[in-house]
Amino acid sequence: MTDNHELMSVTTPLAGLDGRVALVTGGTGGIGRALVKALVTEGATVALSYGTQAKVAEEIVAEVRAIGGRAIAVQADLRHPSTPAAIITEVEAALGAVDILVSNAGLARVQPWGDISVENFDEMVAVNLRAPFLLAQRTVPGMRDRRFGRILFISSVAAFTGGIVGPHYAASKAGLHGLTHFLAGRLAPFGVTVNALAPALIAETGMLPGDPHQLLEQIPVGKLGRPVEVADLALAILRNPYLTNQVLSLDGGMYPR
Ligand SMILES: NC(=O)c1ccc[n+]([C@@H]2O[C@H](COP(=O)([O-])OP(=O)(O)OC[C@H]3O[C@@H](n4cnc5c(N)ncnc54)[C@H](OP(=O)(O)O)[C@@H]3O)[C@@H](O)[C@H]2O)c1
Repeated sequence: MTDNHELMSVTTPLAGLDGRVALVTGGTGGIGRALVKALVTEGATVALSYGTQAKVAEEIVAEVRAIGGRAIAVQADLRHPSTPAAIITEVEAALGAVDILVSNAGLARVQPWGDISVENFDEMVAVNLRAPFLLAQRTVPGMRDRRFGRILFISSVAAFTGGIVGPHYAASKAGLHGLTHFLAGRLAPFGVTVNALAPALIAETGMLPGDPHQLLEQIPVGKLGRPVEVADLALAILRNPYLTNQVLSLDGGMYPR
């Protein structure tokens, strides 16, 4: 390698996200909202999908437009198998091809595990695992053709520890790690990275069950995480073309212990 080549390789900036089209599912949730804002700040155009919170989705789109960004909101119930393809079709028609998929929407209904019905189990897996797979399946061919893509699955530390929601939640999140490993190796030669981010106990979300203060003693750093901290790590993952096939925990030191 020449000196010039070395100099170039250390001074070439990382691939920016400016001008890219991103889809963030669950954009109306605590973490999703922070992800949308972080991506817009990086210059991406963002489509956020949501389940029920139409007013919140409108608010977020208005906030993005107020700072000169571009965003749209798409209502879509991810329990249905046809929804992921419909979301992508709608986003492509409005904004163009999806370069960045952040599969963040999640369901976490706490239930005693003996009471979980077949319907409860299937619903959890449909939203948390099948929908992320179908979204990736629909977006990957275009990413591969364009030689650029980013897929980030929002998992949970429950995939490692079992967690506190239920076995169906933990299993659905662990399934995302399998998807990550299956896809990452196959897509790496095409400029497409695939990673998972596994947070735990993030405040300001609809998902944190119970009184958060009772949970503090489980967290070595002694505080709950914040959506902005999840978004910050997500951006670092999405910017980095050399990071793929990884599951990164963001849990205040909870796992491993
Ligand atoms: N908060 C935590 O401590 C924590 C810890 C580990 C992992 N996570 C993961 O982080 C991700 C984001 O969760 P959050 O903490 O931000 O929770 P949240 O505030 O409850 O947000 C959940 C999001 O998912 C959407 N969603 C749920 N069911 C849906 C469905 N059937 N169809 C379409 N969208 C649906 C919700 O949309 P609507 O509200 O519009 O219906 C909402 O935007 C999830 O995957 C979760 O498992 C969170």
